[in-house]
Amino acid sequence: MSKLWSGRFSKETAKLTDEINYSINTDKRMYAEDIAGSIAHAKMLGATGILDEHQAYEIQFALMNLPTDYEGLELPPEAEDIHMAVEALLTRCIGENGKRLHTARSRNDQVALDFRMYIKGQIDALTELIKELLAVLSTKAREHLNSVMPAYTHLQRAQPSTYAHYLMAYANGFLRDISRLADCKARMNECPLGAGALCGTTYPIDREMTARELRFDKPTDNSLDSVSDRDFALEFLSGLAILQTRLSRFAEEVCLWCSWEFKFLELDDAFATGSSMMPQKKNPDVAELVRGKTGRVFGDLTTLLTVLKGLPLAYNKDMQEDKEAVFDALDTVTLCLRAFTAMLATSTFSCENALNAAGKGFINATDLADYLVNKGTAFRDAHETAGRIVAHCAELGKTLEELTLEEYKTFGDFDDSVYDTISLAACVARRNVIGGPAPNEVLRQIELIEKALGE
Ligand code: ARG
Repeated sequence: MSKLWSGRFSKETAKLTDEINYSINTDKRMYAEDIAGSIAHAKMLGATGILDEHQAYEIQFALMNLPTDYEGLELPPEAEDIHMAVEALLTRCIGENGKRLHTARSRNDQVALDFRMYIKGQIDALTELIKELLAVLSTKAREHLNSVMPAYTHLQRAQPSTYAHYLMAYANGFLRDISRLADCKARMNECPLGAGALCGTTYPIDREMTARELRFDKPTDNSLDSVSDRDFALEFLSGLAILQTRLSRFAEEVCLWCSWEFKFLELDDAFATGSSMMPQKKNPDVAELVRGKTGRVFGDLTTLLTVLKGLPLAYNKDMQEDKEAVFDALDTVTLCLRAFTAMLATSTFSCENALNAAGKGFINATDLADYLVNKGTAFRDAHETAGRIVAHCAELGKTLEELTLEEYKTFGDFDDSVYDTISLAACVARRNVIGGPAPNEVLRQIELIEKALGE
């Protein structure tokens, strides 16, 4: 099959050359972007008089009338990538005039443009998915403002928190993920079209016009940079890797909470799986796969960093590998976000088990020390005394609540009010500083998330 660039060649390419060179199966995803970019380019060619207005109009009209979806569309077999495919489809429709579209343009600026437009659109779609997860988190948090659970450091029970406080911790992270993707989108909002193959063009093109038509802030400032820059793809992959890391940590938490050792969370049967051998099993496969797929996303980021690290300016064919990495990470994160959100939305938090767990492990020991501080003891000394009380209780197999006042008195200046101070509900309620788990404070945090969701 003869190539669009065959003029210089006296032989057909080998099958293996085609096999390694063709990217159409990957980059056909940018079909809509390629058409939109081509329409803007043709319009500009007409407006600047580079093409006769009639010719430019015929091209635009034909492009607009191409099928909107590439699925089910028979792509021309000679097309090695989506750019050549769209041009071939156009020429099939209007004949000779279709060959004028590529005036003052190269596939190098074309792919840089299409890829940016595609990622911009995907950032919007991902943002919506993260917002759906945030909505689930805030709804659940509202239901669990008073659901006490132990919070951990080193996976050791540490201090009293609530399920709502916990969920809002993740919500704050996901909100940063949205803002990180928005930053990435803002920075990539410069239009590379018009950079040509690498050194611009001698035609009097209007780059301001195409940038405007395609809703970019401005044209890029250096043509060599325009066709060799993939920072936007790296930033996008980094944003995805950070987002996926968060999902993975949350997924790990879900796996722990579903274990018999915790039993804080019960998954809906529709979001769990069984064992072919052990009849009793109910496994958190969705969460495990979210955790497990994280490696792919990191791999995709590493792939693109590695592809780019040795490349001289400007375009090199190595860069064609960029899209497989980005699309794979995008598909993985998208699936994980959707599955995780649905799994969490249908799960049930066991308030009773979490409260029972909070009752053991001396998570109110800090409050016991603070009790002594309030009576005038220095914190270091109070910490020491509370530590000795904990050791005493651990030896007797008692909780701090179960220790008698007589026993307390042997350690220092205690009265009856110690029991109120160390009750878990009181411990949570007193932590009403900004960021703390007190119900009214967490409500404020929820309202902030909900406000951000409205924006
Ligand atoms: N399919 C190519 C890519 O994705 C398009 C650019 C090709 N440019 C070239 N000079 N061969 O990178």
